[in-house]
This record gives sequence, C-alpha cells and structure tokens, in this order.
Amino acid sequence: MKNVKAIIFDAYGTLFDVNSAAEKCKERLGDKWEGFANYWRTTQLEYTWLRSLMKRHKDFWKITEDSLDKSMNFYKIDNSMRGELLNLYKVLTPFPEVKETLEHLKQSKFKLAILSNGTPDLLNELVVSNELKDIFDDIFSVEEVGVFKPDSKVYDLPIYKYNVDKNEVLFLSANTWDVSGAGNYGYNSIWLNRNNNIFDKLDFVPTNQISKLSELLDLI
Ligand code: LAC
Repeated sequence: MKNVKAIIFDAYGTLFDVNSAAEKCKERLGDKWEGFANYWRTTQLEYTWLRSLMKRHKDFWKITEDSLDKSMNFYKIDNSMRGELLNLYKVLTPFPEVKETLEHLKQSKFKLAILSNGTPDLLNELVVSNELKDIFDDIFSVEEVGVFKPDSKVYDLPIYKYNVDKNEVLFLSANTWDVSGAGNYGYNSIWLNRNNNIFDKLDFVPTNQISKLSELLDLI
C-alpha cells in the first residue's frame, strides 16, 4: 500500500446501490421487487460481457434499457413503470457510509477517481445528484475505449492519465468479477464484501477484503 498514488472506485454496486431504483417502487412492485432488481442487474452485466465478446458495443444506458425490458417481461411488470424505473436509475442512492468516507479520503494525498461502465453523462448525473462531484479528480468511463470491463483497455485509462504503475493504483469494487479483472490486470484490488459473499475463482485473490467502505480508511 505504501506505493499507492490513486484510489479508484467502481460505481454501480460499489458506491451506488443498483437496487435502489426498484426499491423506491417496492409498494407497486410488491414482494417480487428484489428478485426483479437482481434479475435486471444480472441481465445488464451479462449484456456488457456479451456485447464486449461479440464486439457489438452499445453504451451502458442502452444496455440498462434493454436489460430492463427483458426483466419487466420476465417478471410481468406493467410497462407504465418503465419510465419511472429508468429515471430512478439515473439518480441511484449511494450506500450509507459512502459520502462520509469519501469526504475523509478527500483530505488525503491520493488521487480519487471513478472507473465505470457508465456513460460520462450518467456518471456525472449520479455524482451531481448525490452531491459527490467535488470529491473526484476524474471520472473515467468505458466509453473512452468502447468496450466494457473487464477488458484491460478499461483499466489502462487511469494508468495513462496519471502516469503511474499498476501497483500504484488501489482499486475498490463490490463486484467480485471486477475485483478479479482489476487484480489480474495488476492493480491492488480490494473487495468490498458487504453481504458476506463468496469470492470468484478467476486466478486472483483480493489484496484485501472489507465489509464497509469506511474500513478503507484503516487500510491506507
Ligand atoms: C461499473 C459496474 C461494474 O460501475 O458496476 O463499472
């Protein structure tokens, strides 16, 4: 950790709660809201990987819409909710400890950035609506390289911008596959394991594991 110059965060699922859009509609969605939210997220991620492999890139917003359509169809959700769910996805709620932890980190010497599948507009709206914009030195979007994580071109972005070595980056994600992608690439890759999950078997063991973002403050 002594070498670290930049702390890079994944966005969706790590800083921002991807289930918060469906949760805000849970009275109308009923008991199925959580299954539906998880299905939407899983489908969305599958579409990112499949489009990258097929070399048929579409941006994360289009993928979010397409995966929502499949999920609403599967869960038989009335199409009248589509617009509201999409609007809520643009202003996802951060996890409770996120803002305070980032404000602490802002006092440190490290560069702070987001590196995400999201489009620049989506990411900007997320940080603006949650009053987090001033925290970050940079917001890196995969749209710069036209392929999704875990393609190494994505993890290259902060390396070129900051002119640092891979082991000078501390990367943090709650998505196991993203921790593996970033770790195999060469970052110090920390797993934010909020829900006591099992890690993947993809040739990488996380440098560290924490259960709340605030525990990062003890590590650095
Ligand atoms: C992101 C996805 C992985 O923000 O959650 O890049």
